Amino acid sequence: MKSLNIKSNIHNYQVDFKENLSFIKTLLKLEKAIFVIDKNVYKLYKKEFKNISKDKLLLLDAIEEKKTLKSVQKIYEFLAKEDAKKNITLISVGGGITQDITGFVASTLYRGIRWIFIPTTFLAQADSCIGSKTSLNFKSYKNIIGGFYPPHQIYVAPKFLQTLNKKDFYSGIGEVIKFALLKEKYPKNIDKIIDMVESLKADKNQLQIIRKTMSVKQEYIATDEFDTGKRNLFNYGHCFGHALENASHYKIPHGIAVTIGMIYANIVSCERGLISKKVFNKLNNKLLLPNIYMKLKLSYFDENILLESMKNDKKRVGKDLTIVIAVDNDIRAKKLDDLSFSEFSKTYSQLLKILEIK
Ligand SMILES: NC(=O)c1ccc[n+]([C@@H]2O[C@H](COP(=O)([O-])OP(=O)(O)OC[C@H]3O[C@@H](n4cnc5c(N)ncnc54)[C@H](O)[C@@H]3O)[C@@H](O)[C@H]2O)c1
Repeated sequence: MKSLNIKSNIHNYQVDFKENLSFIKTLLKLEKAIFVIDKNVYKLYKKEFKNISKDKLLLLDAIEEKKTLKSVQKIYEFLAKEDAKKNITLISVGGGITQDITGFVASTLYRGIRWIFIPTTFLAQADSCIGSKTSLNFKSYKNIIGGFYPPHQIYVAPKFLQTLNKKDFYSGIGEVIKFALLKEKYPKNIDKIIDMVESLKADKNQLQIIRKTMSVKQEYIATDEFDTGKRNLFNYGHCFGHALENASHYKIPHGIAVTIGMIYANIVSCERGLISKKVFNKLNNKLLLPNIYMKLKLSYFDENILLESMKNDKKRVGKDLTIVIAVDNDIRAKKLDDLSFSEFSKTYSQLLKILEIK
């Protein structure tokens, strides 16, 4: 499949699509390369990585609680011990957590070193691997530390997805649906998106769908890489979604929290008359609710924690809350900065009813 060339204000980069994992052999021969690999991925794919010597290998725990400066510091320590210079290349293998940590290190060490990313989750392949963002969590604040520094090269191999657990697979589906909703005209094209998700679940056309999702993201970042305008719309599903990740102590993975966040945002749209009840019901019943794929507990939805997290959202600018919602016209999404606390609470109650959480 044809590579994707991504233009960036920092450095241009390329995404190569791979049918199998044989490309890793070439990377193992790279001089001055240090591998930063998700511990679980390393265990599952030991055969591919077994030739990496100990002094060139660092394993990470891919959990949100460790997406912090402390983990970054551990990598600095390892690299300092190995006497790493500005000419090293970090090769990061894992999902969005591994990417965010390695990207942060690569952007700050010597004010920027070369790094290559091999995304191994569906979410990282279809979404996070491009777009330049590196993010860390701080206390209960999600993704508030970070910068912009894309990898120099990305290799996408859906073969890795064969070992991904269902919950993490559905987490990727959440982001794929979001990009499709931003791209497609609806209500007209909702059925097209439903079919695409069904084919993903049947293991069909994964590479094509990953590439297509990436190219929607590429369109947005081409004009707003640094997230000062249009790219804000990617936060559809994320304002409530990030709050929910935090309130559930990350029991709900990112993309599933985004799916629930889209339902939350759609309630706001529907109540404000920006999408019709008919579209609202179809999005919920055919696209969003069937793709949550996990048992939701009331304890994940503590209203006070959710409200506090929404108040701490990095996109919030005024006294009210910020949310990106769907609109039923050609713009398709819109950022609001006037979600009042009482509207938050009313929407929250409606969401629990829709999710049938008691
Ligand atoms: N930088 C960005 O632009 C950006 C965009 C979206 C999301 N994110 C961040 O990405 C993170 C979520 O990332 P994610 O969903 O890709 O996954 P992850 O890194 O959280 O990993 C999820 C789980 O899957 C395991 N795993 C990874 N690859 C596997 C494989 N091939 N087989 C079996 N298990 C595997 C991991 O060990 C982990 O247990 C969040 O922290 C989110 O904030 C970043």
